[in-house]
Amino acid sequence: MQTHEIRKRFLEHFTAAGHVEVPSASLVLEDPNLLFVNAGMVPFKPYFLGQETPPFATATSIQKCVRTLDIEEVGITTRHNTFFQMAGNFSFGDYFKEGAITLAWSLLTTPVAEGGFGIDPERLWVTVYLDDDEAHDIWANVVGVPEGRIQRRGMEDNYWSMGVPGPCGPCSEIFYDRGPDYGVEGGPVADEDRYIEIWNLVFMQNERGEGTGKGDFEIVGALPKKNIDTGMGIERVAFLLQGVENVYETDLLRPVIDTAEELTGARYAAGGDAAAEDDVRFRVIADHSRTGLMLMLDGVTPSNEGRGYILRRLLRRIIRSARLLGARGETLVALLDTARATMTPSFPELAENWERISHAAAAEERAFLRTLETGTRLFDEAAARLRASGGSRLSGADAFTLHDTHGFPIDLTLEMAAEAGLGVDEAGFRELMAEQRARAKADNRAKKRDHGDLGVYRRFLDEHPTEFTGYDRLVDESTILGLLSGGAEVPAAAEGEEVEVILDRTPLYAESGGQLGDHGRITLPDGSAIEVTDVQKAGKRLWLHRGRVAAGEVAVGSLAEARVDPAWRHSAEQAHSATHLIHAALRQVLGPDAVQAGSLNKPGYLRFDFSWAQGLTPEQLREVEQVANEAVDADWTVNTIETSLEEAKAMGALALFGENYGERVRVVEMGGPFSMELCGGTHVAHTSGIGPVAVLGESSVGSGVRRIEAYSGMDSFRYLSAERLLAERLATEFKAPSAELPERIAALSEKLRAAERRIADLTAAQLRAGAAAHLDRAEDLGAVTYLGLRLPEGTQAKDMRALADDLRRRLGDRPAVVALAAEAGGKAPFAIAVSDAGVAAGYAAGDLVAVLGAEIGGRGGGKPQLAQGSGADPAGIDAGLAAVRARLAGA
Ligand code: ALA
Repeated sequence: MQTHEIRKRFLEHFTAAGHVEVPSASLVLEDPNLLFVNAGMVPFKPYFLGQETPPFATATSIQKCVRTLDIEEVGITTRHNTFFQMAGNFSFGDYFKEGAITLAWSLLTTPVAEGGFGIDPERLWVTVYLDDDEAHDIWANVVGVPEGRIQRRGMEDNYWSMGVPGPCGPCSEIFYDRGPDYGVEGGPVADEDRYIEIWNLVFMQNERGEGTGKGDFEIVGALPKKNIDTGMGIERVAFLLQGVENVYETDLLRPVIDTAEELTGARYAAGGDAAAEDDVRFRVIADHSRTGLMLMLDGVTPSNEGRGYILRRLLRRIIRSARLLGARGETLVALLDTARATMTPSFPELAENWERISHAAAAEERAFLRTLETGTRLFDEAAARLRASGGSRLSGADAFTLHDTHGFPIDLTLEMAAEAGLGVDEAGFRELMAEQRARAKADNRAKKRDHGDLGVYRRFLDEHPTEFTGYDRLVDESTILGLLSGGAEVPAAAEGEEVEVILDRTPLYAESGGQLGDHGRITLPDGSAIEVTDVQKAGKRLWLHRGRVAAGEVAVGSLAEARVDPAWRHSAEQAHSATHLIHAALRQVLGPDAVQAGSLNKPGYLRFDFSWAQGLTPEQLREVEQVANEAVDADWTVNTIETSLEEAKAMGALALFGENYGERVRVVEMGGPFSMELCGGTHVAHTSGIGPVAVLGESSVGSGVRRIEAYSGMDSFRYLSAERLLAERLATEFKAPSAELPERIAALSEKLRAAERRIADLTAAQLRAGAAAHLDRAEDLGAVTYLGLRLPEGTQAKDMRALADDLRRRLGDRPAVVALAAEAGGKAPFAIAVSDAGVAAGYAAGDLVAVLGAEIGGRGGGKPQLAQGSGADPAGIDAGLAAVRARLAGA
């Protein structure tokens, strides 16, 4: 049974039983605890926790999931996949254990002809949580599973949570017995290679707190209702039903391995010890190609941090594995293309996104191949240095530089070192890495709250999420719910203290969607006040006002007036609206492939990052600027529309990250189809309110990503005004109207260059003309003739060299040495030449360099006929020339 068919049957089974089919959420749902969606239940979390009322009592979905904790393990076994599809059915206070168990059982065992998976019930085993007699009895009495095939297991195996605080509960798992060829008898407790887990039924009834591992956490309370969350691994069921050995042999992954064979010339599963490593590489390629493709589909672009970094790692591992298998050219796009073909039946949206994805992949591969090239060169140099010094172990510092500065992966360094018969100080490398990580972490902590660590905010988040009123007002009455100082809750804070303030509601905007947090002031009835200089969010819904107590003392529980600095907000809005215009203008000028990769806007300034392989031409950049300013001039009303995600997408609103199915979203629209984006930011009321938009320039920020920077409002004016002032000053200086400046300056530079060329020619001619006269000063030292000359100040090295060569030829009939030096620009360039007869007699210019150099603090080198160099100390020139003479006279 093809994978796509398995998906279809699953959804049909549950919709027939009254479940609402919910499309998969994006892999990059905004959740403070998760980098990627890692289970089918993630989008439904607010419903389980009772934070939101579900629009349905039961639902079913096939959710895209990514787990990247153990990237290194991928391919070593055939069990780990970084991407998988989790099919699930969910009950929000509707049916409980019996419903979940019987629904799962009937889908698995109903014959294929009747719409099920047709699995022989004799092959199925189940587990239940230790004391869950209720589940045990349903399996035994309602379903009729023989006692011998029901096993009880503890926390580690049969109690499910997301691994972080959130909903959890005991679970019951269903296993498929592959038979005695695959391992020992005894059910899943004995052997999980023979007994393959296919479905996990979670009886979601509690909420867990902080803690590590699978068993080490506290249950903080019961959920408002008893719920069901189940997860059936589509890929696992596919390999069992397709009668193949593992996931890599299914219709989803095997074609990618086939493509890898074609590209590399190597063979998968060729057998033998040496081939085992190759097989791992093939599996890495297959797994990562699919995961990379699906992440890019959901808008992740390769970068050096967060999600983008994981994607980059996956892509680079593909490229490297292909290379190690023997591929030479570019491979990534071809591999992703095969993954695309296998995934398209289930994810038709891949078609319309493929061009964008393949561009990004191609750019990433080219950049990485360049890295490999530079890295290989640097590695070779380091290895040569090492050998020259008799060493055999590359230092940790060298490996670190390769990795940190040149993006060269350590495993590649290790491998190349092994090939070159060298070792690597790996411990030293790891130490440097750890130091760097610690630094980065400290930086990160100082800057922002990152994933996870919601600690002290959890209670506020659950009980008092902040009400944001700042779309309509700049001042609001609120109550101080919490104060934090140095990360800990405090009851009060005095003048001068840095604090984080939590209010019940606030008009201050918290940083998100690229817009920085508002500046403002929180004033208490007694005149005490906090100057707010940043607002961040904890989780999605708690506003943290950061600032300093500017006057008096502030205490939890007090009433307060929260006020946004109107000037700050005004220019922040101008910048944010301008960002939307630049985005729209870029799409108009470059096309829909120019996909947003990130943005930042703060009062008066914006930057916008987007995927694009090449630099923009000056014409394209001017056009983007013009389109944006025309939109300002059009004076469109800026409309915000609250709607559902589906509706927003149907309207054509641009959205990439973080929206959840069923969620209310906010669409910001300017000029109808011109600009329509999902956005939670604050904006001007009419586009004319943005004021002028002045594009500063465009640059690269990593492979395949470009950045546009621009000013908005008065900052544009100030920038343009300063540019005009500059033009005026130049006009005065060059005595030309500013419109004629470019020609005037070009003409002047050309004149200057011509004059310089003429001077150089004249000097050289003069030197040559004097050459004959110089010959008179040649001294016969017996065995050799010596001509040592100090040339006029400013003589160029090139002319000196020509003259030395000329003199050496004129003295060609006898052994002769010419030494020339001059003072030029505070240095002492010199040249030494030996006639052919002199070379024949054993004199070498290169040897005499050191004699002259010793007096002028200089070095140089060259051939026996001609050598040159430069010294730092012109005062020693005469002594140097004399020293050469003395050496020759003594010889
Ligand atoms: N949420 C459960 C899991 O991921 C079904 O296994």
